[in-house]
Amino acid sequence: MKKILFVASESVPFIKTGGLADVVGSLPKNFNKEEYDCRVILPKYQCMNQKYVGQLEYVTHFYMNLAWRSQYVGVLKTEFEGITYYFIDNEYYFSGSKPYGDVCYDLEKFAFFSRAALSILPLIDFRPDIIHCHDWQTGLIPVFLKDTFAQGQFYQGIKSIMTIHNLKFQGIWDAKTVKDLAGLADYYFTPDKLLHYKDANFLKGGIVYADYVTTVSNTYAEEIKTPFYGETLDGLMRARSNCLFGIVNGIDYDAYNPETDTYIAQNYNIKNFRKEKIKNKRALQQQLGLEQDDRKFMIGLVSRLTSQKGLDLIQCVMDELCSDGVQFIVLGTGEEQYENMFRHYDWKYNNSVSANIYYSEELSHKIYASCDAFLMPSLFEPCGLSQLMSLRYGTVPIVRETGGLKDTVEPYNEYESKGTGFSFANYNAHEMLNTIRYAEHVYYNKKREWNKIIDRGMEADFSWNSSAKQYEELYSRLLGW
Ligand code: ADP
Ligand code: GLC
Repeated sequence: MKKILFVASESVPFIKTGGLADVVGSLPKNFNKEEYDCRVILPKYQCMNQKYVGQLEYVTHFYMNLAWRSQYVGVLKTEFEGITYYFIDNEYYFSGSKPYGDVCYDLEKFAFFSRAALSILPLIDFRPDIIHCHDWQTGLIPVFLKDTFAQGQFYQGIKSIMTIHNLKFQGIWDAKTVKDLAGLADYYFTPDKLLHYKDANFLKGGIVYADYVTTVSNTYAEEIKTPFYGETLDGLMRARSNCLFGIVNGIDYDAYNPETDTYIAQNYNIKNFRKEKIKNKRALQQQLGLEQDDRKFMIGLVSRLTSQKGLDLIQCVMDELCSDGVQFIVLGTGEEQYENMFRHYDWKYNNSVSANIYYSEELSHKIYASCDAFLMPSLFEPCGLSQLMSLRYGTVPIVRETGGLKDTVEPYNEYESKGTGFSFANYNAHEMLNTIRYAEHVYYNKKREWNKIIDRGMEADFSWNSSAKQYEELYSRLLGW
């Protein structure tokens, strides 16, 4: 039995701010149970889904030294869908209304979390063969493993993998403060280790010290070796390219299933979507106060509202886009500039634009099920899950050809009758607009072709089947057994 430990800052169904939570919450369930015992360690945030708080069982508690501090570490646990989750409890670090906040405070919080995750292992009697770390919040784990923990027999030989879900976020602060809050010696603060220019960088530590580094699509694994996508770590990514692997994400096919989804007005499947899917569109038009018209080309966007997601392109052509019969539905929160931009267009085109500036699992499912097309013109996209959810629900993705979007959406080819969506190459607003117009043209004038695009999209398999196997192969390769 191979023992794998996931350590991450979020996971469905306990706490979610983005796709990381979807991945951590669904991948462990998809490993072969006969061969893998995969468990997960998360922070116990006060803002976690309250539904599960009552189910957490107390395991133990102790005080842990972190640099000059001695901090309380509580350990709780629960089982969900066959996976054991441990929660690290400390009210000083994990209270507040959101999992993340001020950068410096977050660095201390996740330095604590990373050390605590390693420290609890003997107490929960779980010695993993591999610790699989996710994003900068857990970047210090591979470093700690090679540091003081390497002296304990229990930890010797434990391997680590660092998965990059988003290279943009690295956990950077001045070296002196980081030294102090992580309790690491000067030795680690040189340019070949944690030091990055004049600062300390958590993710860099993880990338340098992990045995393997992975990211969430093949294209992104290549892109981050270049200066444009490398976020100043492209040199390091090139240096580690022998140990760098791209494995595309899957989605939870039970949670995202148009046939059984209880959030949506009308269930449907690949056989009957031609007749049934439209009922969702009608219900959503009514719910959001949009014009009741089956024929409007309805475009959806569910996203964190940040510059990563290509919202500048949308802003540039929103008036042109809304000048004909489209309907545009947005669900998201994030930077104020984008929230206000969508609020403005909702006011200006009240009948055809609906801006929903909040977080709602339910509305997100309704949008995936109701819209005709789903727009994702990202500047960069390590993988992207929303386009996979759209494909699953027969909503045609319109994407920019970058990262995981390029790897998962096959562009429509009218000559060969191939493809599952529409895509454009350059980060250019009119290239995006032309692509949307082309999609509209197919939607209005070649309905049979449009429906075949949906057929192919719904048939494509983006469950975890193949990607979980690729992780299993990587684990075997790393362990040599
Ligand atoms: P990222 O991780 O960069 O945010 P992904 O496409 O990988 O992008 O994953 C985003 C996930 O977050 C999807 O499950 C999407 O449905 C969800 N999501 C984003 N914003 C919202 C929102 N406002 N309400 C509900 N779900 C959201
Ligand atoms: C990140 C990326 C997104 C990816 C997700 C899960 O948040 O922005 O592209 O799908 O992580 O891996």
